Amino acid sequence: MTTSLITDDELDELEREYIARVRGRVLEIGAGDGENFGAFDPAVEWIGLEPDAKRRAELATRAREWRHEASPLDAVAESIPLPDHSVDAVVGTYVLCSVGDPAAALAEVRRVLVPGGRVIFVDHVLAPPRTLKRAVQRVATPISKRVCHGCHWDRDTERALVEAGFVGDDVRRLRVRSMPFGPVPMLLFDGRAPAG
Ligand SMILES: C[S@@+](CC[C@H](N)C(=O)[O-])C[C@H]1O[C@@H](n2cnc3c(N)ncnc32)[C@H](O)[C@@H]1O
Repeated sequence: MTTSLITDDELDELEREYIARVRGRVLEIGAGDGENFGAFDPAVEWIGLEPDAKRRAELATRAREWRHEASPLDAVAESIPLPDHSVDAVVGTYVLCSVGDPAAALAEVRRVLVPGGRVIFVDHVLAPPRTLKRAVQRVATPISKRVCHGCHWDRDTERALVEAGFVGDDVRRLRVRSMPFGPVPMLLFDGRAPAG
């Protein structure tokens, strides 16, 4: 399969365009230090979730600067401390590569979303079968897991999303220019939870 080759800047722009689509009460999982503030529609009611204490402190400071009232949740995506069907949308950028158990995290995302609620996920993903990139990802992942905060280079995130029951509405599979091992396959997923 041939996919478009883009630059980092083009990817950033696309990411922000996807994030800007969510409305209402929005949960951002693995929000880091708040890189995505500024991309959200100003009217969203933002709730952040971040397990890393240092990042969460920075996130809380930046959240206040962006006039978001709620303090970020100290939790993992595999166990979200929110009631069932309590958010309109969930956003996660470069987090499904990092969570310990993607299936458990996505089951939790489904549980907290309203029926038909929107999901936006952006991540680097597993390269197609029989490619050098995929072989490199397999070799690199045991190392990246240890040195890059649990980051897996070889996750088939689109499959995980579909297996968790999410339906893609605008799914883009792209490759972003990277050195020295060649372009990195990326997934931008704008989809929804089942209606009922
Ligand atoms: C690569 S960073 C991405 C941060 C931010 N989303 C961004 O795009 O800049 C991955 C984030 O996921 C968080 N994380 C790791 N394991 C997690 C889990 N099980 N549940 C939720 N977040 C997790 C990390 O602490 C980190 O802040």
